[in-house]
Amino acid sequence: MDDLWGDWAMEVAEAELSGPLPRRWAHTQGVAERAIDVRQVLGVDADLLFAAATLHDVGYAPRIAATGFHPLDGARFLRDEHGADERLVRLVANHSLALLEAEERGLREEFAAEFPLLEEPLLVDALVYCDMTTTPDGGRTTAEERVAEILGRYGDDSVVGRFIRRAAPEIFASVERVEAALAAQPR
Ligand SMILES: [Fe+2]
Repeated sequence: MDDLWGDWAMEVAEAELSGPLPRRWAHTQGVAERAIDVRQVLGVDADLLFAAATLHDVGYAPRIAATGFHPLDGARFLRDEHGADERLVRLVANHSLALLEAEERGLREEFAAEFPLLEEPLLVDALVYCDMTTTPDGGRTTAEERVAEILGRYGDDSVVGRFIRRAAPEIFASVERVEAALAAQPR
């Protein structure tokens, strides 16, 4: 994978999100910036993380949102319309603990069979870190504030509210692991 991958990811995400969902596009650009911030801990997979960060929310695009469960819709779009790299597709499908949300939606078995979680914990953690330390407008935040913001936006009793409360401890643990990896890097 080379830099062209990043350009491709940006072109696809911009084409799908910037018109219909400008705020989601602003968030996406912020998440992509976080992926650049952490690239030193990912080595050869830094470009893959950047592409996944750029495309993680593409499934919100109205044209793509077939089921309304955006990680699934985005992953299917990348697989079926773009023949995208399997690791990228599985990262997008499983971004930010999506399997737990699939469970809330009664889709766990189907989802896990179609898009198994990548067995590369640092990449999975890094995508959680990028998404969960970025506000809906693309600014920096903490994972604690981000989880509180999501709960406030969707409400305690919604599918997303129930999901994010269950996912929160794992989100915080992922962010801590990435921060530890960053702190261990020579400056
Ligand atoms: Fe996101």
